Amino acid sequence: MGKKIAVLAGDGIGPEITVQAVRVIEALGLGISMAEGAVGGAGYDAAGDPLPAATLALCEASDAILFGAVGGPKYDALPRAMRPEQGLLRLRKHFDLYANLRPAIVYPELAHASSLKAEVVAGLDLLILRELTSDIYFGQPRGVRINEAGEREGFDTMRYTESEIRRIAKTAFEAARKRSRRVCSVDKANVLETTQLWRDVVIEVHKDYADIELSHMYVDNAAMQLVRNPKQFDVIVTGNMFGDILSDEASMLTGSIGMLPSASLNAKSFGMYEPIHGSAPDITGKGIANPLATILSAAMLLRYSLGEEAAAGRIEAAVRKVLAQGYRTADITEPGCRQVGTVAMGDAVLAAL
Ligand code: IPM
Ligand code: MG
Repeated sequence: MGKKIAVLAGDGIGPEITVQAVRVIEALGLGISMAEGAVGGAGYDAAGDPLPAATLALCEASDAILFGAVGGPKYDALPRAMRPEQGLLRLRKHFDLYANLRPAIVYPELAHASSLKAEVVAGLDLLILRELTSDIYFGQPRGVRINEAGEREGFDTMRYTESEIRRIAKTAFEAARKRSRRVCSVDKANVLETTQLWRDVVIEVHKDYADIELSHMYVDNAAMQLVRNPKQFDVIVTGNMFGDILSDEASMLTGSIGMLPSASLNAKSFGMYEPIHGSAPDITGKGIANPLATILSAAMLLRYSLGEEAAAGRIEAAVRKVLAQGYRTADITEPGCRQVGTVAMGDAVLAAL
């Protein structure tokens, strides 16, 4: 039976970049069918819900989700439950997509585009593994209340269960086995109880992975080390909130957030695949957004959810080729390059396939 992908383009530049990834998947001729669903602000506009029931049903009936981006100024004043970001968070929770893989690779041609010196980042190949379904993002209770002093007080709850830590730690060690066999677990165990448990459990799980070198780092130091000497890392495993922050930081090492794909997987390898950048309202509709992060997300989708390793490799090779050929979107432009817009970059990848 042919495989199915749910395509949720979302808001802002989401539709522009997603369509390029869809073209690439079609060009591979794998007989994959794709169907679109509304999500985020687009879901709210279409059905009054950032994750409409029809979209969830479409995802349920698919083998993987290709996701664009959500959010925009138009929706900022909505009550929290109706905000575009809730579409994304509910999908993560609904499908139990606990393992978020955020690779940060510096392509040789783009080392100069980093805000750091080229020699600090050249050759960087780092995997940030972010836990995605727990932590302060989902912990209860949360809210804003009037406290005993009659003052408004906001509160969120950081929580991790042992089993949640155990499964992401396993994913980290397994991933490291296919790489340079080093895992750095990032926490704030000097201050937070939750992350002391995190550290303890990671150490327990490590007993089954004697071939992997494990280190621990406090998140403040990790933020510093990422810009001081990022090549010291192979796999970084961390919780939902620290991973959110560190993965944005890591993206800048690579020159552009427009280059970075991600995969969010559950225990059955069902996954949602999305560029790590957002909906970029400032450049929406201008035809200049970089589609490569989404195209590379499609490669991850083929690899992790559809078992199409060869096709994934073809897409990645095509992206390397267009960079070597000098094609650049505005975010990674440089003197003497062939500057192109979103569609022309898609064309270049298709030609390189
Ligand atoms: C991300 C984003 C999301 C997050 C937002 C849009 C809810 O920043 O995927 O990193 O915080 O997880
Ligand atoms: Mg983020």
